[in-house]
Amino acid sequence: MQIKKAEFVQSAPTYDKCPEALIPEFAFIGRSNVGKSSLINYLVNRKGLALTSSNPGKTQTINHFIIDDSWHIVDLPGYGYAKVSQKMRFQWELNLRDYLLKRGQLMVVFVLVDANIPPQKSDLEMISWLGENNVPLGIIFTKVDRSKVNELKKNQEAFHIELKKTWKEFPNMFLTSAEKKHGGDELLDFIEENIKLFKSQMEEFGEVKLKNPKIK
Ligand code: GTP
Ligand code: MG
Repeated sequence: MQIKKAEFVQSAPTYDKCPEALIPEFAFIGRSNVGKSSLINYLVNRKGLALTSSNPGKTQTINHFIIDDSWHIVDLPGYGYAKVSQKMRFQWELNLRDYLLKRGQLMVVFVLVDANIPPQKSDLEMISWLGENNVPLGIIFTKVDRSKVNELKKNQEAFHIELKKTWKEFPNMFLTSAEKKHGGDELLDFIEENIKLFKSQMEEFGEVKLKNPKIK
């Protein structure tokens, strides 16, 4: 699948302000600075669509983009950013939890993980939490252009060892570089499959098959 059109819709401060459109949605989450906004720009092939920055904590709201007039990409704020006050962080976690648990049309949450460093506790905790709460997820390793192949392999293996402790079957995983435009095709094919799944579920069951049909 190739994206032809991408437009910013809105930034929502909280879950209940998110757009109401009942169309399939794919969200990107991960530690601050892992490359969420850059990956989105690469996928949609538009440099400044999602705002990026070398300072962590750039994205603070739930940002919706409409793609080819028919599905949503969502850029979420990063977790694990130390400079945000404790109170704000707590509020953010509540907002994110709400969004991740209640958003019925959310087909996949992609957890972005820096491919250049050993497994991080906060990433493993996020992945476990999503799994425990039955939120469908994929794992995207980012910035693969930054290290040598051996180093990347070592980090991957360490990550697999950690996942094996709790997962029988691994979530789908993708290797990407927004910088070198690598790995986007596989990711978009996976998204396309899930858009088809959404459509067939809607045709067959209406809203009842969505995670939380009563709430948008
Ligand atoms: P927050 O919104 O702060 O949570 O950050 P984010 O996860 O959206 O990260 P963002 O896309 O803003 O990128 C953070 C930094 O990493 C920027 O300086 C990017 O240029 C850099 N970066 C992103 N993707 C890549 C990549 O594939 N390769 C390399 N080498 N650098 C990247
Ligand atoms: Mg961002």
